[in-house]
Amino acid sequence: MTASPSPEISNTLLLFGATGDLARRMLLPSLFALHADELIPPALEIVGTARSALDDDGFRKLAGEALTRYLPEDRRQEKSIASFLKRLRYVTADTSEPAAFAELSKAVGNGAARNIAIFLSTAPSLFERTIAGLRATNLAGPMARIGLEKPLGHDLASSRAINDAIRTAFPEERTFRIDHYLGKETVQNLLALRFGNGLFEPLWNAGGIDQVQITVSESIGLEGRVGFYDEAGALRDMVQNHMLQLIALVAMEPPAHFDAASVRDEKVKVLRSLRPIDRSNVATHSVIGQYGPGAVCGAQAPGYAEELKRPSETETFVALKAHVDNWRWKGVPFYLRSGKRMPNRHSEIFIQFKAVPHSIFAERDGQLQANKLVIRLQPEESIRLLVMAKEPGLDRDGIRLREVPLDLSLTQAFAGSRRRIAYERLLLDLIEGDPTLFVRRDEVEAQWAWIDRIRDGWTKTGMKPRPYAAGTWGPSAAIALTERDGVSWHE
Ligand code: BG6
Repeated sequence: MTASPSPEISNTLLLFGATGDLARRMLLPSLFALHADELIPPALEIVGTARSALDDDGFRKLAGEALTRYLPEDRRQEKSIASFLKRLRYVTADTSEPAAFAELSKAVGNGAARNIAIFLSTAPSLFERTIAGLRATNLAGPMARIGLEKPLGHDLASSRAINDAIRTAFPEERTFRIDHYLGKETVQNLLALRFGNGLFEPLWNAGGIDQVQITVSESIGLEGRVGFYDEAGALRDMVQNHMLQLIALVAMEPPAHFDAASVRDEKVKVLRSLRPIDRSNVATHSVIGQYGPGAVCGAQAPGYAEELKRPSETETFVALKAHVDNWRWKGVPFYLRSGKRMPNRHSEIFIQFKAVPHSIFAERDGQLQANKLVIRLQPEESIRLLVMAKEPGLDRDGIRLREVPLDLSLTQAFAGSRRRIAYERLLLDLIEGDPTLFVRRDEVEAQWAWIDRIRDGWTKTGMKPRPYAAGTWGPSAAIALTERDGVSWHE
């Protein structure tokens, strides 16, 4: 039996952009999973809306096809799919027409009395007028909350304009800015690792850690997102949001509570402590690249300009040397890199600890390496600690020491539990009203402020992306970025 829903839980989910790519690939399959596992109240109505002229049945058909295509095989249970599709309704709405909102409001019912969760999965250029339309009707009622998919602007000024528009209709505590990395299980596990174990925290500072690397590499190219990506580039698409959130989680002070205010207060302090990278140091602290033709995972891949069908100066790769200027992280470099058409899809956080202060093994020819912690986010989830051990033997020719891994495969350790995709978690939190894993306005604005200076530095110094072959780890200058400090990228 399901517990009776609390008044905090939404009874309507209004999904803008309901026929779009994100809705079909992620949102509908995630909502289905929540439905199948009885995690959302049976009374929750899901109302999709978009410009396409469809009726309820047309939308149910589209959703059914999306589920068949994107659900893993073990999830395709016909009975649950049929009952899920029955929950769906659809309203055709062109958000440039104020009348559309009256239609929506009529379809949803008395917004002021309903607890509506609104999810905007549309182009950000539509955000402001959508919010104005919601405000003008009773849809942005006193209990309504809004979830917004990225990108929230393309710089600080445009992000502020969107945030100001949101504020006219939704207070901050009912605004849920999505960064889907925060919905990923291993990203949350970072908090468990840091704050659920006594082992790491005493060393988690400039005294114990030598350098940190964060890599988010993808093997895919443009994937049909030509217009969007060319306007954005890797810095805005991946670093401004996902990678800065990862830095914030790695570097933040322990929050006093595991709640939205405490966690986000600590994250924003980190984001505000990032040392500016600007025209004075952009040449030594950043590298940008754009992929040319090459081979990725054994298959020929065209170059970016070929995919785009015109030359472009957009970066598809970025590497940065960042610093968090506070007591804890004084002098510790955070190397970040992210790119498209890399040799594989892999995201990881790599922590290099400091070497022991004095090696007692040196006089017996024993070589020591400093400990490392590798937190793999994807494709597989694992945490691996590299420690020194003595090789078995009598050591007649000197002591032989070797680095061996203490491995925690989360996939194996929790083999019995279902791996949920990030949007299942985030949609459920939106419906239940828990903003802990969403990005607060001050965070998003601190992120943009840092990113804008980097972009400005590139423009002022005339920095252009360097070519790299698809299927490689970016331009060679990215290797030089770390090698200058005597550091190699972890691969
Ligand atoms: C999105 C970016 O935010 O994240 C995409 O816009 C990128 O360009 C995607 O491919 C990567 O997400 P994930 O979950 O596959 O690492």
